[in-house]
Amino acid sequence: MADNFVLPLPDDFHAHLRRGPAMAAYAERHAASFGRALVMPNTKPPVASASEIAAYRREILAAAARASGGSFEPLMSFKLLGGMSRSAVLACAQAGAVAGKYYPAGATTGSEDGIVDPESAEEALDAMQEAGIVLCIHGESPEAPALDREARFLPVIEGMLGRHPRLRIVMEHISTVESLEFLRRAPRRVGATATAHHLLCTLEDLLGGELDPQLFCRPVLKARRHADALREAVLRGEPRLFFGSDSAPHPRSAKAARRAPAGIYTSPSAIPALAGFFEAEGRLGALESFVARTGAAFYGLAPPRGSLELIRGPWTVPEELDGAVPFLSGRSLGWRLGRIEV
Ligand code: DOR
Ligand code: ZN
Repeated sequence: MADNFVLPLPDDFHAHLRRGPAMAAYAERHAASFGRALVMPNTKPPVASASEIAAYRREILAAAARASGGSFEPLMSFKLLGGMSRSAVLACAQAGAVAGKYYPAGATTGSEDGIVDPESAEEALDAMQEAGIVLCIHGESPEAPALDREARFLPVIEGMLGRHPRLRIVMEHISTVESLEFLRRAPRRVGATATAHHLLCTLEDLLGGELDPQLFCRPVLKARRHADALREAVLRGEPRLFFGSDSAPHPRSAKAARRAPAGIYTSPSAIPALAGFFEAEGRLGALESFVARTGAAFYGLAPPRGSLELIRGPWTVPEELDGAVPFLSGRSLGWRLGRIEV
């Protein structure tokens, strides 16, 4: 068995880098695994205007430059707010946003100011279609029971596809068989991201033994049959299904509180964990399209430049990094991150 493995530098099409003092560490950590990341806008304050996009990009670039010699590229998104005008959306596109993010209000962390009435986003969706930017959707209906929320939101996406015949849509962090089937039936302008945690973990890992708040996320982890369907899809190289980490760090103390926020800090360990999974299934070669080809092609971006080395050898994921508990902390993985060449 070879003792190293070189991937094109992975892309992450769904990342939370936060804002404020903690952001620099999260951005540096991200730059150790990824060349580009689509940065989510559910920060405090939210990224919902052209000027915020420019300011947030500058903040991230300054932080990441210290880590990787300037090779990390944040791909910017903005948050759709109810009643957002066409001109506001076009200004975000002009400022370089490649995507706008739709959060149903209350669906997840930092979505209190999301969309209450889907009708209130229609003008913005038209403008996104006009500008050629992607609509990224957190597809969960907050009023439905926790495990049914994703499936209950699918008719809303269906309606958007009908009303906006050229709009490109990404269903974020899909976690169910129903979403996978929807993706397969959908036109080619629909893609989806899958996270490492929804592939590698199930509801049993979250609450089958002692409750593990570090594995609490939205959408909530699902039963085995859902994870199995997603695993099989990515191993086979499912068209238009690509990696988005949804790395979502919360300070360790917040996760230990009585009401733990949703979100898993996956960026430190997602790529080594995925390499272990693909290799165990005899499909290590298919990891490249999942993390470094399919997403860029969907977004119309150039293939990644540069490479990431993975080094074989047991690596125990630390109990804490950057003030948060990383995904699979304490577990021994078969690969660890090596050098990035650009
Ligand atoms: O678990 C999650 N955490 N899911 C999301 O959609 C948002 C994220 C966060 O921002 O913490
Ligand atoms: Zn997210």
